[in-house]
Amino acid sequence: MAAIAKAAIYVVALAVIAPFLYDRYVGFVPLLANRAGKFVEFRDSTIKDVRVKFGGDIRNCEDVMLVEDLGIALLSCDEGRDRWNTVMGTFRPDLDVKNGKLYIYDYAQQNPPKGELRAIILKNFEISDSFHPLGIEYDHIASTLYVVNHALSGSRIEVFTVDFPSATATHTQTFKHELLHTPNSIHSLGNGKLYITNDHYFPSAVSPILSKIETFSGLPGGTVTYIDINDPQAARVVARVPFANGIAMLNSTTLAVGSSSKPGVYFFDVESDQSLVFKNVIRAPSSVDNLSVDGSGALLLAGHPDPFRLMHVSKNRWACVVGSDVEEERRACGCIAPSWAGEWTEARGLRTLYKSEGFCSSTTLVRDVERGVGMISGLYSDGILQFSL
Ligand SMILES: *[C@@H]1O[C@H](CO)[C@@H](O)[C@H](O)[C@H]1NC(C)=O
Ligand SMILES: *[C@@H]1O[C@H](CO)[C@@H](O)[C@H](O)[C@H]1NC(C)=O
Repeated sequence: MAAIAKAAIYVVALAVIAPFLYDRYVGFVPLLANRAGKFVEFRDSTIKDVRVKFGGDIRNCEDVMLVEDLGIALLSCDEGRDRWNTVMGTFRPDLDVKNGKLYIYDYAQQNPPKGELRAIILKNFEISDSFHPLGIEYDHIASTLYVVNHALSGSRIEVFTVDFPSATATHTQTFKHELLHTPNSIHSLGNGKLYITNDHYFPSAVSPILSKIETFSGLPGGTVTYIDINDPQAARVVARVPFANGIAMLNSTTLAVGSSSKPGVYFFDVESDQSLVFKNVIRAPSSVDNLSVDGSGALLLAGHPDPFRLMHVSKNRWACVVGSDVEEERRACGCIAPSWAGEWTEARGLRTLYKSEGFCSSTTLVRDVERGVGMISGLYSDGILQFSL
């Protein structure tokens, strides 16, 4: 009798979790096909003349965004990510954690100094508390730059006013909010109104274990938060998404949010009061990191086709010392995490554009369709990848 009861409990338990397991299985199978030794390289015919730019100059550039009017790219790079990564859960404040930097890259070669990379000078900004930039967003009309800063003392949004000719960003405020506990990406609606994703419910700084369980279970612990920095009281959670990552507006009514743990993109209808109504989800053959929209209206995605190799890199990177005499320290700077980038349009669906072990840990794909230039940034990469269309 007891045995039957026990069996019955197992059957019921299995019935409850089976759809969940199946869902996890369906999500992870494509990723397992990307493990070392099985990985298949792919490059779409629209990705030409691929080359690494600024290798040796910049590292760990998570975010790249284009200001196409000016023909420039803004880059958010953080050398310190090797030892301080609040998303992946690397915390070595006992070691020297270098600060990150923002850069302007004149990719259209029309602003002096032509074709160059310039570090942005941060004015009126007390960097002593540490600067670890992740997602950035630029409001062109207001010349306002929003930067997610994973500072050692807690994550926040830094707001700057930018002057491109002089490559300066003047700090105007630090914005913290209880609904921004794990901020990742920002989308600006203008006038200080923002959608911001929080990637986890459990910050890895608070509980590395629960944070990992959250990632692997695919539980919808991440959020999309609506915030008006001029009216912080009105902040609210407008959607829940498992490991919410990149966020981009496809058009005036559709918002897309990438998921890293349930690989794919979640689409929402945007209401007039900024509420979101879930529309549908598409699955991707890779964990999805950041999203962007190009001038033709295509949604561009980049991410991690083998999250296990990415975890391996983030776990061992703390020992990296670039150019060190110690072989072990040099070796720790290596990167075995492959890259994946694709595009989605309603007409053609999701297509892989680039998949390679030759570039490390892709996070963002951007494309200037008019000038025929594209770029991919990488969480732990040396330089960025540039290509022609
Ligand atoms: C992703 O890219 C977009 C547009 O390029 C940018 O606004 C956003 O902040 C980025 N997020 C991250 C986490 O890199
Ligand atoms: C916005 O994009 C979505 C997805 O491609 C599409 O279904 C919708 O019709 C578009 N809306 C407008 C107003 O263009």
